[in-house]
Amino acid sequence: ERYVGILGIGSYVPETIVTNFDLEQKMETSDEWIVERTGIRERRIVAKGETTSDLATKAAERALADAGISAAEIDLIIVGTVTPDMMFPSVACLVQQNLKAVNAAAFDLTAVCSGFIYGLVTGSSFIKSGTYKKVLVIGAETLSTIVDWSDRNTAILFGDGAGAVVLGETSPGYGILGVDLGAEGAGGDLLKVPAGGSRMPTTLETITQGFHFIHMDGNEVFKFAIKVMGETVKKALADANLSAKDITCLVPHQANMRIIQSAAKRLGLPLDKVIINVDKYGNTSAASIPIALDEGVKSGRIKQGDIIALAGFGGGLTWGAGIIKW
Ligand code: ACO
Repeated sequence: ERYVGILGIGSYVPETIVTNFDLEQKMETSDEWIVERTGIRERRIVAKGETTSDLATKAAERALADAGISAAEIDLIIVGTVTPDMMFPSVACLVQQNLKAVNAAAFDLTAVCSGFIYGLVTGSSFIKSGTYKKVLVIGAETLSTIVDWSDRNTAILFGDGAGAVVLGETSPGYGILGVDLGAEGAGGDLLKVPAGGSRMPTTLETITQGFHFIHMDGNEVFKFAIKVMGETVKKALADANLSAKDITCLVPHQANMRIIQSAAKRLGLPLDKVIINVDKYGNTSAASIPIALDEGVKSGRIKQGDIIALAGFGGGLTWGAGIIKW
């Protein structure tokens, strides 16, 4: 049996900070409302011309350096994203070129905010099966480019960033010990970008209507998230033959402080066992879990031997969790 672990991790967020006070100037909202309902205080936004593959490449370079391996050793690059530089080529192919990872296959994967967990499970399966030895999994997003900056229901929530991990074989008993993935296509309409695909190709009319922006039923997504976050962690724990009391640290998708608090409560975890940075970055979709995990590791809160639970949910609808012995 092969054990697959994270050999290196890195993340990158763009420099420009947009605070809630900045948003007060653009729309009918307040810092107080945003902090109370979401926990978000500020978010990072790409500069003009800065793309998802730029963020992904920087995070990947840091992960490679952390793992101490060269780009040429990478066999596969998977990027979870819903904000690719363009429809195609994939972000993964652009990153492959930037890194000169000449021996790597490359593809993007669409699971919205669950994209990193889906990528982690997919990438680790290639290593478990013996097909590949080193896989780069990246979550990278520039949601600021698909948000309607006049819509206070969505614009306050999102930010840009990227996180990356290098997966490879690790010591027996360590690494990814249990996983859970799920989807509920019936809820697809709750969170979507309606235009720009084959159902509604982009026209002047779709642009006028704002159908190229994120459309979301916030309340329904909130209810879904509350339900699914605890459940998916419990399923991944069962897959690992562990229980919630074994968790040293929970690294949840950073969408909303209230959703994070509810997940912690349902798992019986005190908040000091939860990595939280939603206040600084908002919801960076597929990037949020690897950015939070990177902060947890680099700050020393996550140490060797710890049992880490990663958990996310997102459009699709999708969800997923992973249990890792660090
Ligand atoms: N500023 C001020 N008031 C606002 C704002 C704002 N930015 N946004 C909404 N309001 C108003 C609403 O209009 C409403 O007013 P009304 O009662 O007069 O109609 C009132 O505030 C309450 O609105 P609710 O929607 O009930 O507020 P709620 O507490 O549910 O919070 C929120 C809304 C933050 C969107 C919450 O529902 C949420 O976080 N949902 C989950 C969203 C999410 O995580 N999406 C991403 C999923 S991951 C992915 O795949 C990308």
